[in-house]
Amino acid sequence: MDDIVALCRRRGFIWQSSEIYGGINGFWDYGPLGVMLKNNIRDAWWRDMVLCPPQGPDGQPLDILGLDCSIISHPKVWEASGHVAGFSDPMIDCKECKARFRADQIPDSQCPLKPSKKPGEHDKCKLTDARQFNLMFETHTGALKDDDNKTYLRPETAQGMFFNFKNVLDTCRVKVPFGLAQLGKGFRNEITPRNFIFRSREFEMMEVEFFIHPSTANEWYPFWRKTRYDWWCSLGLAGSNLRLRDHEKDELAHYARDNGGCCDVEYAFPFSGEKGFSELEGIAYRSNFDLTQHAKTSGAKLEYFDQARNERYLPHVVEPAAGLTRGLLAVICEAYTPDATRPSGVYMKFQPRIAPIKAGIFPLVNKDGMPEVAEKLYKELRGKYAVQFDEKQSIGKRYARMDEAGTPFCFTVDGDTLTGGTVTVRYRDTQQQERIGIDKVPAFMAEKIGG
Ligand code: GAP
Repeated sequence: MDDIVALCRRRGFIWQSSEIYGGINGFWDYGPLGVMLKNNIRDAWWRDMVLCPPQGPDGQPLDILGLDCSIISHPKVWEASGHVAGFSDPMIDCKECKARFRADQIPDSQCPLKPSKKPGEHDKCKLTDARQFNLMFETHTGALKDDDNKTYLRPETAQGMFFNFKNVLDTCRVKVPFGLAQLGKGFRNEITPRNFIFRSREFEMMEVEFFIHPSTANEWYPFWRKTRYDWWCSLGLAGSNLRLRDHEKDELAHYARDNGGCCDVEYAFPFSGEKGFSELEGIAYRSNFDLTQHAKTSGAKLEYFDQARNERYLPHVVEPAAGLTRGLLAVICEAYTPDATRPSGVYMKFQPRIAPIKAGIFPLVNKDGMPEVAEKLYKELRGKYAVQFDEKQSIGKRYARMDEAGTPFCFTVDGDTLTGGTVTVRYRDTQQQERIGIDKVPAFMAEKIGG
């Protein structure tokens, strides 16, 4: 993991926030390559869930509409959702070494004062009893900083989709079953942010709330379980590093407890330790818990009249809730491929469709008209693809930089380009090179990347 973190820092994927001030625990900044990669994953999710949603069990495309709600909402939202009362983790302090732990992480946490001890060995430590610690970030709106003006940064995007449910029904002519989708920042004052960006205090998530008739949960829950697992596979996470895990009864969240139906898509991060896997996305059958709570707390009527069934009811919900920044970390871990045969010693094997830079375009040497030809090709492609022109240093060093950035293809303009109209294309994964006509490059890109 240390090597992956070092590459992310060195190549401008991810930096600790406010690093020149010593950093701030649990907050991260995304550099030029990181933000492109993150946006590509975000856009793939938006396209696959909202613009071109999957086909449902009956073979018909689903109806899923996008929303973008404010980060701060009426504080009653979080009373209704149960977050004010119950969104907390048990916290334990050590009076001797002053370390702070999340109670459930004690078995694999290291005592900072006694590095010789194994993780989980706290026998002589002075541990306090567990206290509940609410994870919501509080702030105040307006001039007065009193309790009447207390508001919260949202810990999830989900609630905006519930408290706008009626707005959607009134304005969008949708029929159950349908989904709402939202992505954006979430904030949780995690007791022990750790494992790089895996558990941060500010992160991004991508959530769908899929509203259904209560009698159809047995159809929709397995559908979403499979659809979301397949989606992560489509980003290149397939294979033994990805799995679906059904929750044990005692793990189920309050809204899922009586109904069953909660599972996680998990990835084998290098830090996942003995458990082997850590959560990327949770798929939960939430019944009508949230709409009931908001109807009760706000007094609004949130029932839906189903014309086909001639029935009025509060729809039930299946919720696939994914971490975008966590997904980004999984994609980075999966792509990281040490290779002693190449100058960079490592390359990032991103799928072409999510790679931050799609192609590098180089003149072999900085003379004989090569830069002009390469620049012309660059200008032709840059309107459509994220491509990079590079004329500095040796060609080997330029390939090495592109390998670390995970760029799948490099086109080099050389002497033969000027006489025969061909360029070399170098494939990142095999390092093989072949010649293609310079006029065929746009078609090559369209075939390999799309667009
Ligand atoms: N609305 C349901 C919900 O919020 P969650 O499992 O608490 O569910 C959804 O969060 C996803 O958000 C998780 O599967 C995880 O990928 C991501 N996530 C949660 N807490 C996070 C944190 N502190 N840092 C990074 N990602 C986090």
